[in-house]
Amino acid sequence: MKSKIQFVTGNKHKIEEVQTIFEKECPEFQIMQADIPLLELQAATLEEVAVFKIQSVMENIVPPYFIEDAGFFVDDVCQGFPGVYSSYVMKTIGWDGILKIMAGKTNRNAHFESVIAYVDNHKAVHYFKGVNEGQVSTEARGSSGFGFDPIFISNETPNRTFAELELNEKNIISHRRRAVNKLIEFLKNNA
Ligand code: IMP
Repeated sequence: MKSKIQFVTGNKHKIEEVQTIFEKECPEFQIMQADIPLLELQAATLEEVAVFKIQSVMENIVPPYFIEDAGFFVDDVCQGFPGVYSSYVMKTIGWDGILKIMAGKTNRNAHFESVIAYVDNHKAVHYFKGVNEGQVSTEARGSSGFGFDPIFISNETPNRTFAELELNEKNIISHRRRAVNKLIEFLKNNA
């Protein structure tokens, strides 16, 4: 029988991405969605945001489970902004606001980060981080994915935004994939 792990998220794109990876790479574990509201307090790093999220659900869920916190970082021009404020920025100015800030800028370096906080059966928390480096596009392109995907071009897939990739293409190189890979390695080593 498969071991079950809950992924606490209300984001259907994230659950689809993570379930697809587990089905292929780690079928001995089944990822179940737990759509419990998470408190998203502001902090300086994704790891700290993840700690707040874990604290906000720990009374309402039985381990093992994990949460994931991601951010879009415009490296040089915006010194990492929106980063930990990505969710707020997405809800307010959106990716078109980022394109406006970046208008005329030649240095367009940016990256995505994903931090997974996994709570094991003994309630110990383990962190796994994944990064994808790239550029802010000059225009929004593509219709797959979510969030800032239409304006991010990974250095590993030049000329195409994340939103122009098939889900399985994004899933090979994404920040989330890299964090999930580390979680899978941990699960396999600690089974
Ligand atoms: P959170 O992890 O849900 O807090 O994500 C913060 C913000 O970054 C949200 O607005 C998401 O839409 C966006 N975001 C998170 N992951 C991705 C991704 O893989 N692609 C594009 N945007 C993302």
